Amino acid sequence: MTDQPTLRDGELVLRPWELDDSTATRTLHDPEIARWFDFPHTPPPEDEHLAWIEGTHAEWAERRKATFVVDWRGEPAGTVDVRVQEPGVGVLSWAVYAPFRGHGIAWRAVRLLVEWAFEALELERVEAHVNPDNRASVRTALRAGLRREGRLRGNAVLAGVRQDTLVLGRRRDDPHPDTREGFTSMLDSTLPTKRAIAQGVLRSTTGGLLLCELVYKREWDLPGGVVDQHESPAACVVREVREELDLEVRAGELLAVNWLPPLQGWADATVFVFDLGTVEPDAAARAHLQAREIRAVHWTGPDDWATRVAPYNARLLRRLHQHRGGTLYLEDGTPTG
Ligand SMILES: CC(C)(COP(=O)(O)OP(=O)(O)OC[C@H]1O[C@@H](n2cnc3c(N)ncnc32)[C@H](O)[C@@H]1OP(=O)(O)O)[C@@H](O)C(=O)NCCC(=O)NCCS
Repeated sequence: MTDQPTLRDGELVLRPWELDDSTATRTLHDPEIARWFDFPHTPPPEDEHLAWIEGTHAEWAERRKATFVVDWRGEPAGTVDVRVQEPGVGVLSWAVYAPFRGHGIAWRAVRLLVEWAFEALELERVEAHVNPDNRASVRTALRAGLRREGRLRGNAVLAGVRQDTLVLGRRRDDPHPDTREGFTSMLDSTLPTKRAIAQGVLRSTTGGLLLCELVYKREWDLPGGVVDQHESPAACVVREVREELDLEVRAGELLAVNWLPPLQGWADATVFVFDLGTVEPDAAARAHLQAREIRAVHWTGPDDWATRVAPYNARLLRRLHQHRGGTLYLEDGTPTG
């Protein structure tokens, strides 16, 4: 007789496995379960299944792992478990048998398990390792209140093929998934993020456009840089010009938004190009250049752009040269539509 508790949430009950459960559940193992757990055959042979049930009792006795039958309206519908991987950290796993799928049983069972495990097993964190193609399980983890934390490249082998793994996790002190902040944080962890770059067009009273000769690449470029987290593009360009050139500028009109497709290992990025105004030509000579990034600055005109800047920037600068007000929308330096 095990002292493992029974957990309840309305019609959903998590209870310890019993040897008698094998008859009703063994043949419910389907190819979907075999696929994601990399089981060699489905259903498992009877002796193996019984030994597995006995194993769950031994693991609980040593508090290494808690495995529960998921009962739905009195019928065994699946299994969930949490394995104590190291003190304070539990690793979750789950399966719902085919006839019971699609009714919200999995995520409710996982959430019930997690909230019990935080208290009863004194866990500080739970996590799940899910194949990115296992969309039902990724959704199960998220709806259970775990956040997507990262992707481990090629750390697992499934059906003989090396695969990536998504890590999803929940901390004991995270806002509860039923609160607005908890829900938003979960959703936020799954949404795509894009790189933003802010650059500026600084002109001289004699008509030149300022370009930076950089230490780390051949092509000259507009001053500016990558927008930090929680920083606005306008604040970024002002900061970058201060850091790179030691010049104080104001971000004026937004001249162009230029989306750059992925290139040579770089992810795609959106460039915001601001008007930084017009200064006397000697402003360039007064600039103090950040030596580890900027070798020199140059006042340039259309003749320089063909040879000195990257092709997408040459397209952008030519457009800006003809530009008479408003904000251009470009993709790779070219107008759309
Ligand atoms: C993953 C599994 C447990 C889901 O069981 P379930 O009870 O059907 O899941 P739920 O009804 O709670 O649904 C959870 C979410 O997954 C979504 N979902 C279910 N099946 C899906 C599918 N085939 N593709 C995409 N999403 C799916 C549901 O829509 C729901 O998301 P939503 O609430 O945003 O709509 C079940 O498919 C299973 O046992 N799979 C095989 C075992 C497995 O993969 N275990 C995990 C190994 S890490």
